[in-house]
Amino acid sequence: MYLAGNNLPAAWRSCPHFTVSELGFGTGLNLLALAALIETERSLGNQVPALLYQSVEWDPRPLADLEALALRWPELGHPARALAAVYEPKPGWNRWTWPWGSVVLYMGDARDLPAMERSLEPADAWFLDGFAPDRNPELWEPALLGWVGRFTRSGGTAATYSAAGVVKRGLREAGFTVVRAPGWGAKRHMVKATLASDRNF
Ligand SMILES: C[S@@+](CC[C@H](N)C(=O)[O-])C[C@H]1O[C@@H](n2cnc3c(N)ncnc32)[C@H](O)[C@@H]1O
Repeated sequence: MYLAGNNLPAAWRSCPHFTVSELGFGTGLNLLALAALIETERSLGNQVPALLYQSVEWDPRPLADLEALALRWPELGHPARALAAVYEPKPGWNRWTWPWGSVVLYMGDARDLPAMERSLEPADAWFLDGFAPDRNPELWEPALLGWVGRFTRSGGTAATYSAAGVVKRGLREAGFTVVRAPGWGAKRHMVKATLASDRNF
């Protein structure tokens, strides 16, 4: 999944701060999986960085959808209930703190983000969770992927379950080294992308 696709938790070892950016918040499932990983790491006595999670969604789900996650994924119940307690998305910027770090959710079109990047932090890891480009081309436009590359820290990574040519090409043009890796569950493949460590921030 997105955690393994971005080499987490290994990638954040010895980092005091770590920023995950996501395109497509949906029900917040990826955020909950990250919180569950942090819980596991803490229970093992491993150091966990201060986490900033930035995401965008133009069609936020009703609270009931998030609450349903806790029933469907009992192992995510604790973070799901914590997210439900703060979740009240309004158009524009939403900023929440919860037990696993800070969450920034921009409710609007992801294509607006490059013009507003001063409200965001460059990412250490990207969860590119749009639907496939034929269903949801907006999240895979070369201009947006180019910004993803520019707004990634040196050596940062990105992962996506879309292995379409346009996605791999867009990520390569954005400066990433792209490899196809085994997927998870119903997804046969995923794409792992890594930015050179001498670029950007
Ligand atoms: C596959 S779902 C994301 C699932 C989500 N990450 C989760 O864990 O539940 C893709 C999401 O991207 C959102 N989306 C698609 N195009 C968008 C755009 N241009 N701007 C913002 N959100 C967009 C859709 O509304 C949808 O919720």
